Formats: sequence, structure tokens, C-alpha cells
Amino acid sequence: MSRNYKIAVLPGDGTGPEVVAEGLKVMRAAAAKFGFDFTETTFNWGGEHYLATGEILPEDAVDQLKKFDAVFLGAIGHPKVKPGILEKGILLKLRFELDQYINLRPIKLFPGVETPLANKKPEDIDYVVVRENTGGIYTGIGGVSMKGTKQEVAVQSEVYNYHQVERCVRYAFELAKKRHSKENPWRGLSAEDIAAGKTAQLTLCGKTNVLTYVFDLWERVFYQVAEEYPEVKTAYCHVDATTMWMVKNPEWFDVIVTNNIFGDIITDLGAMTQGGMGIAAGGNLNPTEGGVSMFEPIGGSAPKYTGLNVINPLAAVCAGAMLLDFLGEKEAAAAIEKSVAFVTGNKLKSMAAGKMGYSTTEVGQLVIDNL
Ligand code: IPM
Ligand code: MN
Repeated sequence: MSRNYKIAVLPGDGTGPEVVAEGLKVMRAAAAKFGFDFTETTFNWGGEHYLATGEILPEDAVDQLKKFDAVFLGAIGHPKVKPGILEKGILLKLRFELDQYINLRPIKLFPGVETPLANKKPEDIDYVVVRENTGGIYTGIGGVSMKGTKQEVAVQSEVYNYHQVERCVRYAFELAKKRHSKENPWRGLSAEDIAAGKTAQLTLCGKTNVLTYVFDLWERVFYQVAEEYPEVKTAYCHVDATTMWMVKNPEWFDVIVTNNIFGDIITDLGAMTQGGMGIAAGGNLNPTEGGVSMFEPIGGSAPKYTGLNVINPLAAVCAGAMLLDFLGEKEAAAAIEKSVAFVTGNKLKSMAAGKMGYSTTEVGQLVIDNL
């Protein structure tokens, strides 16, 4: 691939444009330093566009985005638009139609960042959640009958096929394998595990005790695929127990793989343990050849902070680093992460909007200054 990338930028609503500007500013500086280039094309889709035109997305939106190497998204969600319209009409539609079947959400406590978990340090909170991103309850299969009466029935189904589960689980095993080497196995493994050739751990997060159809499928696929990855130690946790361990013993986790809805829920918890939405980034990945992936800070549009230059842009900066990593610019991505760690460790007073000790644009500049 040529090292001149085409990036589609969707700044979106609220503070989205402000944090995206900082993410791009840092990516630009990294490009100059590491000898690659990119062009950005901005699409102003989101709440304002919808309120002004009644259009959620143009008909050819997905086809347009398919021409890019990656998408960089700010935030979708507008206080004047009924919940669900933009989320379903933009975010979920793009995830589905671009077949971004993985939602990758690293849970990493950067140095100097305050975590609500007592006595936990950066080395204790450093794992990745692989959330299935195009299936499950999000498929939207279901319906309602006798609406508005006391007999109303509502159904929304947890739908998975073998193929969806298999490709997600396989991605998670590959990631777990790649995250660690024989020289640097995951810190949580026992001496016996390492002697047995294990270097990484993958935990399936499910609910096999109640969702006995869907998670039976996940569990069988998980252990089938596991046979191809002898270096990955496998573990299983029910989702309720997962939330417990994420708080009590986050150091047990290396990579977690889970379905769409559980992944949605546990990654907000994870984000809080890593210092909040100001720092949590994610990637909606289509890892297939020619697939277009979309990277975003996972916090929302934070309408009350819009335009004040106080929002924390580091989640968007980290999303930018993930984007570059995915395009193959590993050195640039690692340098950005390292600089973010320096900035959190040595500069920022807090991760919270308005309490950082610096403005949004200054934080972006700090990351550039320490690249
Ligand atoms: C997320 C968000 C979305 C989701 C919403 C906005 C539809 O919460 O990216 O985690 O549920 O996936
Ligand atoms: Mn969510």
C-alpha cells in the first residue's frame, strides 16, 4: 500500500469536531515525522445536518466511504434529535454496511491517570475487549404487538450465526497471539502456562448459564478455534462475573472476546476504570482485504462542553493512533501512544473536561511537542 492514505473524516456532533481536529493535528505531525502522508475529506453528517435537511445520511454515503482507507469519526448524538435516529441511522448503519464486524476497545490505564479502582496501577489495567460489532441484539430482529395496551408484547432477539461468531472469535485469537511474544508473554500467565508454551490469554465473556442457545454456539466455536492457537490460554467468564473481575482483578485479563451487547456494556465500565471517556478510544474494524474501518473516541458528543475548548481530546488522539496502526503505520502509532503516556503522566491535572489544566487545543499540542 502506498503511504499516502485517504481518510474520511466525520466530525459529527457536539464536541466531535473539536476532538477530531486535535486527533488530525497529531496524525499530521506523526505523518511528517514518520514519512507518510494522508488526505482528509470531511463529511458533515450528524445532528445539525439532519435538523437542517431532514437527511440522516445520503443514499450513497456507504459507497462514498468505501473509497477511503479509513474513517475517523468524532461523535454522533444531538440533544434536539430523538435518541436512536442518529445512532441507528449513522453509527450502526455504517458499522453494519461497512461490515465492521469487530469493535476493538483497549482498556489501558495511562500513567498519571486517576482510576476509581483502589490500588490499581497502569500495569494492572492493560487489556483489550474484542466486541462483536454487527450482530446480536443490534441486528434489530423483533417486533411489538398490541402497543400501548396492557397486553403489549415486545421482542428483540439475540441473533448470531456460526460465521459471525467464528470470524469474531478468530480475530480475537489472532490478536491475543500477536499481542505477546515468547520473550514477552502476558504477565498474568503462571510459570506452568509459560512452560506449556502459552504466551497470551483470551477470555470468552458470555452467559452460558442462561443464554443456552446463543452462548452454546459461542462456546463451541471458541473451543474449536482454540485448537488452532495452542499458544493462547483460554478462559471463560459469565458477563456478570466479568464486570466483577474488571473491578476487582483487572490484571487477570489480557484479551476478552464477547458479543455486541455485552461488549457495549463492559467497555463503558472498562473506560471508567481507565480514567473515563476522555481517554477511551475504539476501532470499528473490517479486517478483510479492502475493508474500511472506522475509528472513534467512544465517549459521546458531550453537548454541554461544545465549543468551549475544554473537552479532553486524548480519546480522539488515541483513536487516531489506532487508525494509523491499522493502516500499518505502527511506529507512528506507537510514538503517539508514548507521547500520550508522557502527557498524562507529566502534564495533565485530570482527564475531565475543564479540569485538565490545559485547553483542548493545548493538549493536542502537548502530544505533538512530545512525539
Ligand atoms: C457505543 C455506543 C453505541 C452502541 C450507541 C450510540 C448506538 O454506545 O459505540 O458503544 O451501543 O454501540
Ligand atoms: Mn456504548
